[in-house]
Amino acid sequence: MSLALAEFAARLPKAELHVHIEGTLEPELMFALAQRNRVSIPFASVADLREAYSFTRLQDFLDIYYAGAEVLCTQQDFHDLASAYFDRAAADNVRHAEIFFDPQTHTDRGIAFEAVIEGLLSAMAQAQQRHGITSGLIMCFLRHLPEEAALATLTMAEPWYDRLLGVGLDSSEVGHPPEKFAEVFRRAGALGLKRVAHAGEEGPPTYVSQALDLLGIDRIDHGNRALEDDKLVARLVAEQITLTVCPLSNLKLCVVDEMADHPMRVMLNAGLRATVNSDDPAYFGGYINDNFAALAATGHYDREDFITLAKNSFSGSFLPPKAIAAHVNDLYLAVASL
Ligand code: ADE
Ligand code: ZN
Repeated sequence: MSLALAEFAARLPKAELHVHIEGTLEPELMFALAQRNRVSIPFASVADLREAYSFTRLQDFLDIYYAGAEVLCTQQDFHDLASAYFDRAAADNVRHAEIFFDPQTHTDRGIAFEAVIEGLLSAMAQAQQRHGITSGLIMCFLRHLPEEAALATLTMAEPWYDRLLGVGLDSSEVGHPPEKFAEVFRRAGALGLKRVAHAGEEGPPTYVSQALDLLGIDRIDHGNRALEDDKLVARLVAEQITLTVCPLSNLKLCVVDEMADHPMRVMLNAGLRATVNSDDPAYFGGYINDNFAALAATGHYDREDFITLAKNSFSGSFLPPKAIAAHVNDLYLAVASL
């Protein structure tokens, strides 16, 4: 009997290119860390917290996400957070993950940058040993804060430059265009760091163009609203720019009204190099395979589409070409066995 499409997708080897480690903080761990660190959170129970996860736009979510992150205090907390993510990712056949972290969310509360990054790095090393998952860190700047704060964060990270894969730009998009961060991205590029930016999630297509032209980005996070500009789409296709798309996030944040209307179908038809990702899985109802399953349930996708998406996840990664080729080979071996 042939496998259902969601199960087929679940078994494919894949990379995850858009996941905020703070967005993997499950309510149970949030409560456990609140207790461990004697931090109070404005929710009485896990059920209360889950009930609060009803958003009409990005900012509704960000308010809760930043409040939740306050339970993360020690190096061990960051290790435990990332370790839990890798266990989930391994179960979803993730072979490589490029993970966002938001240092300013923590350093602004007096947490040492070192505690944040060393906790994440030790979990990454452990994941490679335990699960064979490779990973890299992308340090995101919070765009609702001034560029000077981003520059200070880049300076703070100096002892760990060789442990960073790249830099990114996240948080409240509208009103904080990429051009605000041109200098910090220029400096990060000069350091040899990869550059990515959230653009076109809620913001207009001009934010996507600015990210390309003014930030020199190597990959776009989300990019949904690029579809409103045909010329921009043609450019993204011609330059083979990867889009890290997050279907369940888009649904939860009302970027799309229904999964059946998700622009992924249009993106694939247009020849865009789209990928599937979980964004903030603890808040949006699922990890990467849940995102594939949600697409599968629309009836708008077939096996070839999902093979393309899995392949794009490797070719859009920042792995060296040889490693990408090896992963794609493994993907085709897996497909042949399904
Ligand atoms: N930070 C965490 N998740 C985010 C998202 N989806 N958009 C912008 N900033 C974020
Ligand atoms: Zn994101």
